[in-house]
Amino acid sequence: MTTAVYPGSFDPIHSGHLDVIGRARQIFDRVVVGVLDNEHKQYLFSVEERAELVRQSLPPESDIEVRHFSGLAVSFATSEGAAVIVRGLRAVSDLDSEFQMALMNRRLEPKVHTVFLTTGFSNVYLSSSLLKDVCAHGGSIEGLVPPVVERALHDKLAPTGAAAVRAG
Ligand code: PNS
Repeated sequence: MTTAVYPGSFDPIHSGHLDVIGRARQIFDRVVVGVLDNEHKQYLFSVEERAELVRQSLPPESDIEVRHFSGLAVSFATSEGAAVIVRGLRAVSDLDSEFQMALMNRRLEPKVHTVFLTTGFSNVYLSSSLLKDVCAHGGSIEGLVPPVVERALHDKLAPTGAAAVRAG
C-alpha cells in the first residue's frame, strides 16, 4: 500500500487543491491531507477550521484522511508511513520554490519523495490569497471554492473586509 501526504496551508482549500487531491488518490492507495499549523504564520482560519473545511469539501464517500501537523513536512510524512509528498503545480512560476523545497525535503529525509501533480487548466490561476482578496472586496468566488468554503469566507471577511486579508 502506497501512502502519500499532501501538506499545505489550505487557508482555505479551493478547487485547485481538490483537483490535486483527486488526482493523488487515483495514483496512491492512501492519501492524507496535512494541514500545517505554523505558529509563526498568521492565517485567516484556525488550523481546526482549515482542516474541517477540507473535510467538508470532500465527497461523503471519500476515503481521504485529513490531519493537522506542525513541524517538518517530512516528519509528518514519516509519521503517516508515507514515502511520498504530493505538491500541486499551477505554472512554471511555482517550480522555483517547489523545487527548492523538494530538494531540502530529500536532504532531510531521503526515503520520502516529492511527486508534483499539475492541476487542471481551469484552476491554474487559483490561490487561497487571491480568493481571500477577491472575497474581501466583494467579488464573486462562486465555483472556485466548494459552497461550504464560500460561506465560511463570506462569514469571516464580511465584518472586517480587506483588513482581515492583509493580516493573513
Ligand atoms: O500551501 P503552502 O503554504 O504552499 O504549503 C507550504 C508547506 C506547508 C508545504 C511548507 O511550508 C511546509 O512543508 N512547511 C512545513 C515545515 C517544513 O517542512 N519546512 C521545510 C520545507 S523544505
